[in-house]
Amino acid sequence: MSLNLSMLTREVIERCDTIAACTEEPGRITRTFLRPPMHRVHELLTTWMQEADLIVRRDALGNLIGRRPGLTSDAKIFVIGSHVDSVPNAGRYDGVLGVLLGIAAMKSLAGQRFHVAIDVIAFSEEEGVRFSTPYLGSAAVCGSFDPDWLKKKDADGVTMDQALRAFGLDPAEIPKAAYGREQLEGYLEVHIEQGPVLATLRSPIGIVDAIAGQSRHWLTFTGKAGHAGTQPMIGRSDALVAAAHFVTQVEEYAHEVRDLRATVGSLTVHPNAVNVIPGMVRLSLDVRHADDATRLKAVERILDQAFDIVKDPQMSVNEETILDQSAVPADPALINRLEAIVQEKNLPVHHLASFAGHDAVMMAKICPMAMLFIKSPGGISHHPDENVDREDVQAALGVLVGILGSRAV
Ligand code: HGY
Ligand code: MN
Ligand code: MN
Repeated sequence: MSLNLSMLTREVIERCDTIAACTEEPGRITRTFLRPPMHRVHELLTTWMQEADLIVRRDALGNLIGRRPGLTSDAKIFVIGSHVDSVPNAGRYDGVLGVLLGIAAMKSLAGQRFHVAIDVIAFSEEEGVRFSTPYLGSAAVCGSFDPDWLKKKDADGVTMDQALRAFGLDPAEIPKAAYGREQLEGYLEVHIEQGPVLATLRSPIGIVDAIAGQSRHWLTFTGKAGHAGTQPMIGRSDALVAAAHFVTQVEEYAHEVRDLRATVGSLTVHPNAVNVIPGMVRLSLDVRHADDATRLKAVERILDQAFDIVKDPQMSVNEETILDQSAVPADPALINRLEAIVQEKNLPVHHLASFAGHDAVMMAKICPMAMLFIKSPGGISHHPDENVDREDVQAALGVLVGILGSRAV
């Protein structure tokens, strides 16, 4: 007997609140890669996965996987997943909601066997906060984890290798986290939209056609530190003034190109003292567009502007590329399956692009991918005011149960 969707939906939302309490910053939600609160998250998810008749394991990158075996041991695997890490001062639904909906769907189908194995994956790191590298968990699952990343250091000088070992994981085992392409039937990620489109359409859910391409860079402006009092304004090489010019030029340029998103989200000043002329500024650049050529042209133009700003011989700027991720289309056959279930449930069918990145970007490297979005009231995300409407979550759960049920024996 499938459990009542309304009860399961209430439980999912309550569980988002429980996970939200697992934070490294009391008073706000911050849960970055392999920090202590993630142990409690794994304890909770393990209990909830087992309660949903799933066999639980953790891989060497800290991904937690709940499996419902298929009818035969060589059955293909259908994966439902999302991430459980967060940005600093996050909302309580980004990533986590998709994992909990996967568990709830399997709970409502407890005891049911399928022509495929079903894996629910809680990816350990998607946001790229701690080590400035996104998609670590899903990169390991799709076999594109770069061992050089183990040398990366966090803000405290801890390497990724040390962080993995401190969490009780063995970096040597990371290659075993990878699924073989031939093993997988497909990947479906349910996620909040994080933008205003479905709220404007007043639609509870949406089907993602493609995930926009994304470029991430670090830029370092180096000038000459000096005494804020004794150094006349003439002859200064103030790195923050140069960086400030750059930031406003990024914003102005992004308004000129339709649907381009360009953001300087992180900026640190050195030595960051009231009475010292800034000698160095390190800042991030995040550029996104659904069309790769447009995005890459924009990155080139924006970086050229950075070098143009630094005319002063005492100034320099250098750039480090963190991510150059092409746009990723969802799989047409999976989109059709989703559409059929959405129509069967008498829900409106809306298609949209995702300008947020997701683990689905990585999973698309090894199998057909699709995403189902849930309306974000007010279009707010990466913010404590991030929210969902219960009836929309229930609608998404119904679609998820429907798409899984279509593979039941
Ligand atoms: O940055 C993103 O688009 C996602 O939230 N990681
Ligand atoms: Mn996010
Ligand atoms: Mn997310």
